[in-house]
Amino acid sequence: MQIHRTIESLRSARAGAGRTAFVPTMGNLHDGHIALMRQAAGHADSVVASIFVNRLQFGQGEDFEHYPRTFAADCERLAAAGVAHLFAPDEAVMYPQPQSYHVDPAPTHVSVLEGECRPGHFRGVATVVLKLLNIVQPELALFGKKDYQQLMVLRNMVRELALPVEVLAGETVRAGDGLALSSRNGYLSAEERVRAPLLYRLLCHIRSAVASGERDLAKLEAEAMAQLEGAGWQPDYVAVRRRADLQPPADEDDALVVLAAARLGRTRLIDNLEI
Ligand code: PAF
Repeated sequence: MQIHRTIESLRSARAGAGRTAFVPTMGNLHDGHIALMRQAAGHADSVVASIFVNRLQFGQGEDFEHYPRTFAADCERLAAAGVAHLFAPDEAVMYPQPQSYHVDPAPTHVSVLEGECRPGHFRGVATVVLKLLNIVQPELALFGKKDYQQLMVLRNMVRELALPVEVLAGETVRAGDGLALSSRNGYLSAEERVRAPLLYRLLCHIRSAVASGERDLAKLEAEAMAQLEGAGWQPDYVAVRRRADLQPPADEDDALVVLAAARLGRTRLIDNLEI
Protein backbone atom coordinates (compact mmCIF):
# COMPACT_ATOMS: atom_id res chain seq x y z
CA MET A 1 0.00 0.00 0.00
CA GLN A 2 1.32 3.43 -0.95
CA ILE A 3 0.86 6.26 1.52
CA HIS A 4 0.35 9.73 0.05
CA ARG A 5 0.72 12.89 2.08
CA THR A 6 0.11 15.38 -0.72
CA ILE A 7 -2.59 15.91 -3.32
CA GLU A 8 -0.02 15.73 -6.12
CA SER A 9 1.31 12.35 -4.99
CA LEU A 10 -2.19 10.86 -4.67
CA ARG A 11 -3.25 12.29 -8.03
CA SER A 12 -0.28 10.88 -9.93
CA ALA A 13 -0.81 7.41 -8.43
CA ARG A 14 -4.55 7.63 -9.08
CA ALA A 15 -3.95 8.34 -12.78
CA GLY A 16 -3.04 4.71 -13.55
CA ALA A 17 -5.27 3.02 -11.00
CA GLY A 18 -8.26 2.19 -13.22
CA ARG A 19 -11.80 2.15 -11.83
CA THR A 20 -11.37 3.42 -8.29
CA ALA A 21 -13.48 3.08 -5.18
CA PHE A 22 -12.84 5.49 -2.33
CA VAL A 23 -13.49 5.01 1.39
CA PRO A 24 -12.87 8.12 3.50
CA THR A 25 -12.26 7.58 7.22
CA MET A 26 -11.00 9.36 10.28
CA GLY A 27 -8.84 6.36 11.24
CA ASN A 28 -9.00 4.19 14.37
CA LEU A 29 -10.28 1.52 12.04
CA HIS A 30 -12.55 -1.32 13.16
CA ASP A 31 -14.19 -4.23 11.37
CA GLY A 32 -16.93 -1.95 10.02
CA HIS A 33 -14.34 0.09 8.11
CA ILE A 34 -12.63 -3.05 6.86
CA ALA A 35 -15.96 -4.43 5.60
CA LEU A 36 -16.35 -1.19 3.60
CA MET A 37 -12.85 -1.64 2.12
CA ARG A 38 -13.69 -5.19 1.07
CA GLN A 39 -17.04 -4.10 -0.38
CA ALA A 40 -15.17 -1.36 -2.28
CA ALA A 41 -12.70 -3.89 -3.67
CA GLY A 42 -15.57 -5.92 -5.09
CA HIS A 43 -16.64 -2.98 -7.27
CA ALA A 44 -13.37 -1.53 -8.53
CA ASP A 45 -9.87 -2.17 -9.83
CA SER A 46 -8.30 -0.35 -6.92
CA VAL A 47 -9.32 1.00 -3.53
CA VAL A 48 -8.20 4.35 -2.15
CA ALA A 49 -8.77 5.03 1.55
CA SER A 50 -8.16 8.24 3.43
CA ILE A 51 -7.40 8.95 7.07
CA PHE A 52 -7.99 12.52 8.15
CA VAL A 53 -9.43 13.60 11.51
CA ASN A 54 -11.49 16.50 10.27
CA ARG A 55 -11.51 19.32 12.80
CA LEU A 56 -14.37 21.07 10.94
CA GLN A 57 -16.96 18.43 11.85
CA PHE A 58 -16.28 18.54 15.59
CA GLY A 59 -18.22 21.06 17.68
CA GLN A 60 -17.07 23.06 20.69
CA GLY A 61 -16.37 20.69 23.58
CA GLU A 62 -16.44 17.58 21.37
CA ASP A 63 -13.62 15.05 21.23
CA PHE A 64 -11.41 16.37 18.39
CA GLU A 65 -8.26 16.55 20.54
CA HIS A 66 -8.85 13.12 22.09
CA TYR A 67 -10.17 11.34 19.01
CA PRO A 68 -8.14 8.08 18.89
CA ARG A 69 -5.29 8.24 16.40
CA THR A 70 -3.86 4.78 15.61
CA PHE A 71 -2.09 5.35 12.30
CA ALA A 72 0.39 2.45 12.31
CA ALA A 73 -2.24 -0.15 13.22
CA ASP A 74 -4.66 1.36 10.68
CA CYS A 75 -2.06 1.06 7.90
CA GLU A 76 -1.55 -2.61 8.69
CA ARG A 77 -5.27 -3.31 8.53
CA LEU A 78 -5.73 -1.37 5.29
CA ALA A 79 -2.82 -3.12 3.60
CA ALA A 80 -4.17 -6.52 4.71
CA ALA A 81 -7.58 -5.59 3.28
CA GLY A 82 -6.01 -4.95 -0.13
CA VAL A 83 -6.18 -1.14 -0.15
CA ALA A 84 -3.78 0.13 -2.81
CA HIS A 85 -3.46 3.79 -1.82
CA LEU A 86 -3.89 5.65 1.45
CA PHE A 87 -4.30 9.41 1.39
CA ALA A 88 -3.26 10.78 4.78
CA PRO A 89 -2.91 14.54 4.51
CA ASP A 90 -2.26 16.95 7.34
CA GLU A 91 -4.38 20.03 8.02
CA ALA A 92 -2.18 22.35 5.96
CA VAL A 93 -2.86 20.18 2.90
CA MET A 94 -6.61 19.96 3.46
CA TYR A 95 -7.22 23.49 4.76
CA PRO A 96 -4.48 25.84 3.53
CA GLN A 97 -6.84 28.79 4.08
CA PRO A 98 -8.86 27.78 7.16
CA GLN A 99 -12.38 29.23 7.28
CA SER A 100 -12.32 30.07 3.57
CA TYR A 101 -14.79 27.80 1.74
CA HIS A 102 -17.58 25.61 3.06
CA VAL A 103 -20.38 23.44 1.79
CA ASP A 104 -23.72 24.05 3.47
CA PRO A 105 -26.03 21.04 3.12
CA ALA A 106 -29.77 21.49 2.56
CA PRO A 107 -31.19 23.13 5.73
CA THR A 108 -34.04 20.62 6.03
CA HIS A 109 -31.49 17.80 6.12
CA VAL A 110 -29.38 19.30 8.88
CA SER A 111 -32.06 20.85 11.10
CA VAL A 112 -33.10 17.44 12.50
CA LEU A 113 -31.57 14.67 14.64
CA GLU A 114 -27.74 14.78 14.51
CA GLY A 115 -27.79 18.15 12.76
CA GLU A 116 -29.92 19.62 15.52
CA CYS A 117 -27.77 18.10 18.30
CA ARG A 118 -24.46 18.94 16.61
CA PRO A 119 -24.81 22.30 14.81
CA GLY A 120 -22.24 22.70 12.05
CA HIS A 121 -21.33 19.00 12.04
CA PHE A 122 -22.68 18.21 8.58
CA ARG A 123 -21.24 21.41 7.14
CA GLY A 124 -17.85 20.09 8.25
CA VAL A 125 -18.55 16.61 6.87
CA ALA A 126 -19.82 17.90 3.50
CA THR A 127 -16.89 20.30 3.14
CA VAL A 128 -14.22 17.67 3.75
CA VAL A 129 -15.95 14.98 1.69
CA LEU A 130 -16.39 17.29 -1.32
CA LYS A 131 -12.72 18.18 -1.14
CA LEU A 132 -11.65 14.55 -0.76
CA LEU A 133 -13.82 13.55 -3.73
CA ASN A 134 -12.25 16.32 -5.81
CA ILE A 135 -8.78 15.13 -4.85
CA VAL A 136 -9.31 11.40 -5.39
CA GLN A 137 -11.84 11.63 -8.26
CA PRO A 138 -13.13 8.10 -7.68
CA GLU A 139 -15.85 6.37 -9.71
CA LEU A 140 -17.36 5.10 -6.43
CA ALA A 141 -17.43 6.32 -2.84
CA LEU A 142 -18.57 4.21 0.10
CA PHE A 143 -20.09 5.31 3.40
CA GLY A 144 -21.51 3.20 6.25
CA LYS A 145 -25.19 3.16 7.18
CA LYS A 146 -24.15 3.48 10.83
CA ASP A 147 -23.98 7.25 10.15
CA TYR A 148 -27.35 7.23 8.43
CA GLN A 149 -27.91 10.97 8.31
CA GLN A 150 -24.36 11.54 7.03
CA LEU A 151 -25.08 9.08 4.21
CA MET A 152 -28.32 10.90 3.37
CA VAL A 153 -26.64 14.34 3.41
CA LEU A 154 -23.75 13.14 1.23
CA ARG A 155 -25.99 11.38 -1.28
CA ASN A 156 -27.93 14.62 -1.57
CA MET A 157 -24.76 16.67 -2.01
CA VAL A 158 -23.53 14.37 -4.78
CA ARG A 159 -26.91 14.62 -6.54
CA GLU A 160 -27.39 18.38 -6.12
CA LEU A 161 -23.83 19.28 -7.13
CA ALA A 162 -23.84 16.69 -9.95
CA LEU A 163 -20.62 15.12 -8.75
CA PRO A 164 -19.49 12.33 -11.09
CA VAL A 165 -19.36 9.65 -8.43
CA GLU A 166 -21.65 6.80 -7.43
CA VAL A 167 -22.35 6.49 -3.70
CA LEU A 168 -22.62 3.00 -2.19
CA ALA A 169 -23.80 2.28 1.34
CA GLY A 170 -22.23 -0.33 3.64
CA GLU A 171 -24.26 -2.24 6.21
CA THR A 172 -23.56 -1.56 9.88
CA VAL A 173 -21.24 -4.15 11.43
CA ARG A 174 -22.19 -5.21 14.97
CA ALA A 175 -20.54 -6.96 17.87
CA GLY A 176 -22.08 -10.31 18.90
CA ASP A 177 -24.34 -8.56 21.42
CA GLY A 178 -25.65 -6.12 18.81
CA LEU A 179 -23.60 -3.00 19.62
CA ALA A 180 -22.80 -1.18 16.38
CA LEU A 181 -19.02 -0.94 15.87
CA SER A 182 -17.75 2.60 16.26
CA SER A 183 -14.42 4.26 16.96
CA ARG A 184 -16.09 5.89 19.96
CA ASN A 185 -16.92 2.52 21.61
CA GLY A 186 -13.36 2.61 22.90
CA TYR A 187 -14.40 5.41 25.27
CA LEU A 188 -16.79 3.03 27.13
CA SER A 189 -15.71 1.63 30.49
CA ALA A 190 -15.98 -2.16 30.91
CA GLU A 191 -19.20 -1.71 32.87
CA GLU A 192 -20.69 0.66 30.26
CA ARG A 193 -19.71 -1.72 27.46
CA VAL A 194 -21.92 -4.40 29.07
CA ARG A 195 -24.86 -1.95 29.21
CA ALA A 196 -24.34 -0.43 25.75
CA PRO A 197 -26.36 -3.00 23.68
CA LEU A 198 -29.57 -1.64 25.25
CA LEU A 199 -29.67 0.96 22.48
CA TYR A 200 -29.74 -1.74 19.80
CA ARG A 201 -32.33 -3.81 21.70
CA LEU A 202 -34.68 -0.80 21.88
CA LEU A 203 -34.26 -0.16 18.16
CA CYS A 204 -35.04 -3.84 17.47
CA HIS A 205 -38.18 -3.56 19.60
CA ILE A 206 -39.38 -0.49 17.68
CA ARG A 207 -38.57 -2.08 14.35
CA SER A 208 -40.63 -5.17 15.11
CA ALA A 209 -43.50 -3.15 16.61
CA VAL A 210 -43.74 -0.92 13.51
CA ALA A 211 -43.31 -3.89 11.18
CA SER A 212 -46.21 -5.61 12.96
CA GLY A 213 -48.49 -2.62 12.36
CA GLU A 214 -48.04 -0.31 15.40
CA ARG A 215 -48.62 3.23 14.13
CA ASP A 216 -48.36 5.21 17.38
CA LEU A 217 -44.75 6.17 16.70
CA ALA A 218 -44.70 8.92 19.34
CA LYS A 219 -45.60 6.36 22.00
CA LEU A 220 -42.84 3.96 20.88
CA GLU A 221 -40.30 6.78 20.80
CA ALA A 222 -41.31 8.09 24.25
CA GLU A 223 -41.18 4.60 25.77
CA ALA A 224 -37.67 4.02 24.42
CA MET A 225 -36.51 7.45 25.69
CA ALA A 226 -37.93 6.60 29.14
CA GLN A 227 -36.22 3.21 29.18
CA LEU A 228 -32.89 4.79 28.33
CA GLU A 229 -33.32 7.44 31.03
CA GLY A 230 -34.39 4.76 33.52
CA ALA A 231 -31.22 2.84 32.75
CA GLY A 232 -29.05 5.89 33.44
CA TRP A 233 -28.52 7.07 29.85
CA GLN A 234 -29.03 10.62 28.59
CA PRO A 235 -30.89 10.21 25.30
CA ASP A 236 -30.88 12.96 22.65
CA TYR A 237 -33.52 11.34 20.45
CA VAL A 238 -35.24 8.14 19.44
CA ALA A 239 -37.13 8.79 16.21
CA VAL A 240 -38.87 6.87 13.44
CA ARG A 241 -38.33 8.76 10.19
CA ARG A 242 -38.66 8.46 6.43
CA ARG A 243 -35.48 6.98 5.00
CA ALA A 244 -35.25 9.42 2.11
CA ASP A 245 -35.07 12.70 4.03
CA LEU A 246 -35.33 11.77 7.74
CA GLN A 247 -38.51 13.81 8.15
CA PRO A 248 -41.43 12.48 10.25
CA PRO A 249 -43.35 9.97 8.14
CA ALA A 250 -46.84 10.46 6.75
CA ASP A 251 -49.35 7.59 7.03
CA GLU A 252 -48.59 6.34 3.53
CA ASP A 253 -44.78 6.28 3.97
CA ASP A 254 -43.45 2.76 4.32
CA ALA A 255 -39.68 3.13 3.78
CA LEU A 256 -38.78 3.98 7.36
CA VAL A 257 -35.77 3.96 9.65
CA VAL A 258 -35.56 4.25 13.41
CA LEU A 259 -32.63 6.29 14.68
CA ALA A 260 -31.32 6.98 18.16
CA ALA A 261 -28.57 8.92 19.89
CA ALA A 262 -27.84 8.74 23.59
CA ARG A 263 -25.00 9.39 25.98
CA LEU A 264 -23.80 6.59 28.26
CA GLY A 265 -21.41 8.18 30.73
CA ARG A 266 -19.15 10.39 28.61
CA THR A 267 -19.70 8.40 25.41
CA ARG A 268 -22.31 9.48 22.89
CA LEU A 269 -23.56 6.49 20.87
CA ILE A 270 -25.70 6.61 17.73
CA ASP A 271 -27.39 3.74 15.95
CA ASN A 272 -30.25 3.03 13.54
CA LEU A 273 -32.20 0.23 11.91
CA GLU A 274 -34.10 0.29 8.66
CA ILE A 275 -37.65 -0.94 9.09
O1 PAF B 1 -17.69 8.93 8.77
C1 PAF B 1 -16.57 9.44 8.95
O2 PAF B 1 -15.61 8.80 9.40
C2 PAF B 1 -16.35 10.91 8.61
O3 PAF B 1 -17.48 11.66 8.90
C3 PAF B 1 -15.89 11.14 7.17
C4 PAF B 1 -16.93 10.69 6.16
C5 PAF B 1 -14.59 10.37 6.93
C6 PAF B 1 -15.62 12.62 6.93
O4 PAF B 1 -14.64 13.11 7.78
